[in-house]
Amino acid sequence: MMKNFKTEQEFFWAGEFGDDYISRNSNKKLIAANVNLFSKILEKTRNVKSIIEFGANIGNNIDAIRSLFPDCDCSAVEINKKAADILRGKNVKVYNASILDFTIEQKSDLSFTKGVLIHINPDELQTVYQKLYYASKKYILIVEYYNPVPVEINYRGHEGKLFKRDFAGELLDKYPDLSLIEYGFVYHRDNNFAQDDLTWFLLEKNK
Ligand SMILES: C[S@@+](CC[C@H](N)C(=O)[O-])C[C@H]1O[C@@H](n2cnc3c(N)ncnc32)[C@H](O)[C@@H]1O
Repeated sequence: MMKNFKTEQEFFWAGEFGDDYISRNSNKKLIAANVNLFSKILEKTRNVKSIIEFGANIGNNIDAIRSLFPDCDCSAVEINKKAADILRGKNVKVYNASILDFTIEQKSDLSFTKGVLIHINPDELQTVYQKLYYASKKYILIVEYYNPVPVEINYRGHEGKLFKRDFAGELLDKYPDLSLIEYGFVYHRDNNFAQDDLTWFLLEKNK
């Protein structure tokens, strides 16, 4: 039975579109591209022993992280039940819930999203920023589509489902103890490890 979510975007991902996304999101090239991306990001960190991913789907990012940090303790929040069930089979601590409702039980060294903030109802972003911040002991990673000002674009024929903006900049403004460690871009025409024009921003909490 479908839960009573607050936003149309949550119903979209918990339902049929989210179920169908799983098969589109499974391929070996993507895994190789993720290993390349996460090796560039994680080399900038120190002592990351636990991570939590918000909107992890079937764990493609977690697989890449584990190939680099084999002993990493991995948790995930995922709204889609089919994806959450697959994740559970990968020895990940899974919360099958919406990020908007989820209560953090335990902080991780790194909290992150990849391709998820772009799908959150913009009115709820402050809640998600707060959760990302409190879920992290040290690092926050944002891998999303960047635009200097908020814009909406059509997503596979759907309206109200894809938004771009400066997510990392908004987090830096909201929490002045955060600082920018590094950032980068992955071009969709990269010769070897293409991704969908992703931008990434690694932030650190300064105690
Ligand atoms: C575009 S996919 C990205 C998946 C994964 N992060 C990756 O990079 O392969 C977006 C994911 O976020 C999940 N999601 C979307 N909104 C969510 C919410 N409010 N709470 C939890 N998960 C959500 C979707 O079900 C989906 O698995």
